[in-house]
Amino acid sequence: MSLVFAINGQRFELALSSVDPSTTLLEFLRYQSPFKSVKLSCGEGGCGACVVLLSRYDPVLQNVEDFTVSSCLTLLCSINHCSITTSEGLGNSRDGFHTIHNRLSGFHASQCGFCTPGMSVSLFSALLDSSSSEFTVLEAEKAVSGNLCRCTGYRPIVDACKSFAADVDIEDLGFNSFCKNSLPPFDSEKRVCSFPEFLKDEMKSIDSGMHRWCSPGSVEELQRLLQGARKANSVGLSVKLVAGNTSTGYYKDERDRHYDKYVDITRIREMKEIRETQNGVEIGAVVTISKVIAALKEIRVEKMFGKLAAHMEKIAARFIRNFGSIGGNLVMAQRKQFPSDMATILLAAGASVNIMSLSRGLEKVTLEQFLQGPPLEDYYDLVLTIEIPFWHHRSSELLFETYRAAPRPNGSALAYLNAAFLAQVKDRMVINCRLAFGAYGTKHAIRCKEVEEFLSGKLITDNVLSEAITLLGKSVVPQEGTSNLAYRSSLAPGFLFNFFHSLIITEKPSSNGYYHLDQPKPLPMLSSSQHVPINDEYFPVGEPVTKSGASLQASGEAVYVDDIPAPANCLYGAFIYSTKPYAKVKGISFKENSVVPDGVLAVISYKDVPKGGQNIGLKFSFGTEPLFAEDFTLHVGQCIALVVADTQRHADTAANLALVEYETEDLEPPILSVEDAVKKSSLFEIYPFLYPQQVGDTSKGMSEADHRIISSEIRLGSQYFFYMETQTALAVPDEDSSIVVYSSCQTPQYVHSSVAACLGIPENKVRIITRRVGGGFGGKAVKAMPVATACAVAANKLQRPVRTYVNRKTDMIMTGGRHPMKITYSVGFKSTGKITALELEILIDVGATLGLSMLIPSNIIGALKKYNWGALSFDFKLCKTNLLSKAIMRAPGDVQGTYIAEAIIENVASSLSLEADTIRKINLHTYDSLALFYKDGAGEPHEYTLSSMWDKLGVSSNFEERVSIVREFNESNIWRKRGISRVPIIYPVSMFATPGRVSVLSDGTVVVEVGGIELGQGLWTKVKQMAGYALGLLQCDGTEELVDKIRVVQSDTLSMVQGNFTGGSTTSEGSCAAVRLCCETLVKRLKPLIEKSGGPISWNNLISQAYAQSVNLSASDLYTPEETPTQYLNYGVAVSEVEIDLVTGQTFKILKPLIEKSGGPISWNNLISQVYFFLKPHCFLIELLDFHYSQSVNLSASDLYTPEETPTQYLNYGVAVSEVEVDLVTGQTTVLQTDILYDSGKSLNPAVDLGQIEGAFITDSEGLLLTDSTWTYKITTVDTIPRQFNVEILNSGRHEKRVLTSKASGEPPLLLAASVHCATREAVKEALKQLRMWKGVNDSELMFQLPVPATMPVVKELCGLDIVESYLEWKSSVN
Ligand SMILES: Cc1cc2nc3c(=O)[nH]c(=O)nc-3n(C[C@H](O)[C@H](O)[C@H](O)COP(=O)(O)OP(=O)(O)OC[C@H]3O[C@@H](n4cnc5c(N)ncnc54)[C@H](O)[C@@H]3O)c2cc1C
Ligand code: FES
Ligand code: FES
Repeated sequence: MSLVFAINGQRFELALSSVDPSTTLLEFLRYQSPFKSVKLSCGEGGCGACVVLLSRYDPVLQNVEDFTVSSCLTLLCSINHCSITTSEGLGNSRDGFHTIHNRLSGFHASQCGFCTPGMSVSLFSALLDSSSSEFTVLEAEKAVSGNLCRCTGYRPIVDACKSFAADVDIEDLGFNSFCKNSLPPFDSEKRVCSFPEFLKDEMKSIDSGMHRWCSPGSVEELQRLLQGARKANSVGLSVKLVAGNTSTGYYKDERDRHYDKYVDITRIREMKEIRETQNGVEIGAVVTISKVIAALKEIRVEKMFGKLAAHMEKIAARFIRNFGSIGGNLVMAQRKQFPSDMATILLAAGASVNIMSLSRGLEKVTLEQFLQGPPLEDYYDLVLTIEIPFWHHRSSELLFETYRAAPRPNGSALAYLNAAFLAQVKDRMVINCRLAFGAYGTKHAIRCKEVEEFLSGKLITDNVLSEAITLLGKSVVPQEGTSNLAYRSSLAPGFLFNFFHSLIITEKPSSNGYYHLDQPKPLPMLSSSQHVPINDEYFPVGEPVTKSGASLQASGEAVYVDDIPAPANCLYGAFIYSTKPYAKVKGISFKENSVVPDGVLAVISYKDVPKGGQNIGLKFSFGTEPLFAEDFTLHVGQCIALVVADTQRHADTAANLALVEYETEDLEPPILSVEDAVKKSSLFEIYPFLYPQQVGDTSKGMSEADHRIISSEIRLGSQYFFYMETQTALAVPDEDSSIVVYSSCQTPQYVHSSVAACLGIPENKVRIITRRVGGGFGGKAVKAMPVATACAVAANKLQRPVRTYVNRKTDMIMTGGRHPMKITYSVGFKSTGKITALELEILIDVGATLGLSMLIPSNIIGALKKYNWGALSFDFKLCKTNLLSKAIMRAPGDVQGTYIAEAIIENVASSLSLEADTIRKINLHTYDSLALFYKDGAGEPHEYTLSSMWDKLGVSSNFEERVSIVREFNESNIWRKRGISRVPIIYPVSMFATPGRVSVLSDGTVVVEVGGIELGQGLWTKVKQMAGYALGLLQCDGTEELVDKIRVVQSDTLSMVQGNFTGGSTTSEGSCAAVRLCCETLVKRLKPLIEKSGGPISWNNLISQAYAQSVNLSASDLYTPEETPTQYLNYGVAVSEVEIDLVTGQTFKILKPLIEKSGGPISWNNLISQVYFFLKPHCFLIELLDFHYSQSVNLSASDLYTPEETPTQYLNYGVAVSEVEVDLVTGQTTVLQTDILYDSGKSLNPAVDLGQIEGAFITDSEGLLLTDSTWTYKITTVDTIPRQFNVEILNSGRHEKRVLTSKASGEPPLLLAASVHCATREAVKEALKQLRMWKGVNDSELMFQLPVPATMPVVKELCGLDIVESYLEWKSSVN
């Protein structure tokens, strides 16, 4: 008996006895097939990276059914006789890319590329679905909903999808690389063959019951099987019924549970049919949710069915609905209290369930009885069908509506609360009704019988509704411990009110609109515009060239660390981390009675660090940090050990089964808050030279102020990176105790040092290779080091290759995120709004270890100084807590600095009752104040573009006019309020040393190596363009096409030393500058040959001659940032301080100037750390802080190290206007429009920069709190981006000291997302004003803090959890 299936047209046959039935399709694809294009990202069904097309043949109807599924949840055995198509199967580099790949590439819709294969398959499937009709723009927008992308901001992906729509106007599509109307053609008739002919002849069922996996074809057969199993159960046989298996995305422990038998129930005839009967519709329990939706839409006679279908479309994502069954959902709800939508809406619809029970036989129960009954027994009870009755034929009018409040409006997020109401109404009187609520933290969906009874037979008035809502408050009560408890219960009255409002009899219609309940209008279609200047001065630099390798990424052929084929004997590791904040680790074992997988080989801990090595997992400029906890664990998530096994699954399972024995007796309680840390003086030192500088005299500023706000408080939460590729590494031991580590990291150089220090081997025996990274956002800087080092330790100990691909939950728990902080500030200001002084105290939660947190204070201040505060002083405390160690997330500290600045501005505005926009404008910098705050970083006066950009965006976004429209909207709408806000940003960045090498090969092709890592930010593309430009200066024939001959290759720390750190937004520039230097050297070497040739010469000829004459065609260089006249003034001092020391080794000469510079007493450690900076010529950190020494020496050449003091810092400017609409019933915020103006200088590649700007903006739009899965951590999806998104890149002309006058784009635009937060605050302010009016509170000052992140519960809480009750009360009082 065997499993037969096809992948991308290739036949696979596996003996059923050899397959572990718990193997997922993804595991098979990635580890046992040659097709690696499916990516693993969440493993929970929550991201779409693993989506494949599944095709099934129906021999009776002789047709093929194609649909997407998430391969991470689909079991391999479920795909018997099916065909799978991955993105690589659609097209590839060998046979030609598919049009989808080419369009995604041409629309610049792939950055890190980790999401792109999944996107391609989802789009392909959407196109197949519409093959009988036309693919519309509306469908295009939904094509990839449910697929997550962390890099692009979705806009270009949606545009690529829309380009296939029949009703699209090509002119409306966003920035792309296709000439007008010349999109790569798509012939829908010329289909990819998703189901090969040979499979059609092999349709046999595997129902013998002989194997661990069986597929009965009828209920009778199933009964026989189950009865057999039941008998066997007396000796402990365990059986699992499997439909779509999608429940394991939520109940992850299920995957590790061992079952003796898996019974696939999807082929049981009686359970897979949909039948329309006289009284309703009967749906087989294994019918997928997608098929239920399609069927309900067909039955038009019953309007309620359309509403049910529309609600079901919000359950999960399409690729889950395509495989997840209606019965599976209800069983999850019944047995495991899953917060189901299906149960709630079917409860209101009056559904019933047919059950076959081994003990009770066949029975039909109402859904209510089903939900309330004891949990179904594991395979004793089977749900056969679900019946939904018709209601339309009854004599009364039928009202039916469903509701859900969830972080994502269109699905892919569990609801905070869902509801469905059915009412039979005659002459506005409620005859009877069914009111169902669920998912709010209740065991199962409930009917509010008391309210139903109360309303039945009543005419609806405000008072009746008020009473009903009071009754409701007693029924919809979440269980203790439910998150956002008050918020969840507050949603119920809103939905009830919404449902019944149309029946309200009002005696006195009002002219002020307050009796009108504004209906939510359908959201406008996504739309965008991009204004991108193209410069051809340095052609091909400045061209919007498509991202290097984008099609390869789309087809899934691009190789990430986990795609590297496993070497022979490869082992896999999984981390065991601490679950206690502070405890003594007494030992590690496996849980009693647990079945530890056979393949587990070792548990690697600090004891396995080799002799001569140190327990170091992280080595950076600020020092080292341990790899494994030794006697004590200092925070939850601290690495304790690495379990090593024969497969990743076995390693993960074993890590889950690990039991760490802790002891907390006699230990101090852990420090879990910044306040506690301050109280216990648990603080990290901030080196004085990293401490930002105060500006002016704040006491004087305060005394000059007309008004003061004293000791106001702000709290900022954390945020998780959510790179799509989690942390991963592969370590391979090599000869002579050396080791090669493939690491997905932003810091190969530091990974290198960490591995060497931990293994106790010289650095020349370590080699770190990084080709591409599936998104980093700072999370793969410091936090990638222990991952690579742990693999290295295990590989060294076991002398076998060891790799790990950290699962999402572990990644979320171990890597931490953005720094949360508490800010207390006092601000003084004039009556005009001009601020005169700002004093801040900032307590930063660093966690248990320091990492790079010492950079945060200066970054906060760098961004906060965007306004002229008059005078500025601050006190920072880096609080050492027993909480997760934080990492430097994209724009670290700068994001917080921006939010703090805006919160203060808004508070000042509120206290003066002025518009925040007025306060912002009045406090914008002049060039003089800019120079005072930023010193040399301010650049030349003509480079300061912010104030003109402020005005320009005001005009182009129609700011003033829209402010009035928003005002009018707010006056005439009760339940929706809008806000609009314009926010400026200043973002200082620093250039730092970066190496490069350019080599020309004998056929004229060029290989480039750079220190920077390709993280999706387009670094390779810009580098290629730069090499094309700089070699093109030779002006021989063929140099115009040089870009096509250039290949940028992976980073290798033994080939390219001093690779430094990819981060801080300027690595692309630095890498380009290094490449330019190398090319200049080559040009110098090649020019004499051209001159000698005496006439035009082609590039290939030139290179042939150069080879013949042994011209050195490989040049390497280290780019060190340029100096400016200002810095020249200090130049002599810098040279004398460092040059002499490095040459002579007279260390006192290094130390002395440092002591003088520190400006005060300095500790030995602190001092030595600074020396470390000097001796390690690769640290950009100093430059970040106006400490502009460049110690960058080209160590692969024999140049004399001559450090110069250089101005490496410059400022980036941007302005954004965002307009939002807040739903006061749910607290949901919709971003209606965002307009961005961003100064990119002369962009190196405007397409890449545009992608960075849009992507960065969207990254910070969500900012949800840190949790441990895609179920609770919700990054932005396609349905939550601005409906209208306009971006203009400003070419602000020359910046002489920048690389070809360009500026940074990676991180700065992230700060512009603060405009959404500020606009939300404006809308909330309007809601609050209205609420106060209803409540009769009349104070003019509206001082409130909108927390970051402004989640739905947060917004609703501010708008009034009792808003509906207050409204009804007010209304009855004015009647
Ligand atoms: C990412 C994601 C998001 C989701 N979002 C939502 C959401 O917003 N709202 C919502 O309501 N749901 C949501 N779901 C739940 C989803 O609808 C269910 O996972 C799916 O319907 C389960 O069906 P299945 O066929 O995969 O069940 P399976 O996983 O195969 O089975 C689930 C359980 O039920 C048992 N079982 C299955 N069928 C039967 C049967 N006929 N009789 C007896 N026992 C049976 C199985 O043994 C198993 O224990 C989400 C799921 C995922 C993965
Ligand atoms: S990896 Fe399968 S959906 Fe995320
Ligand atoms: S390009 Fe989509 S996640 Fe990186």
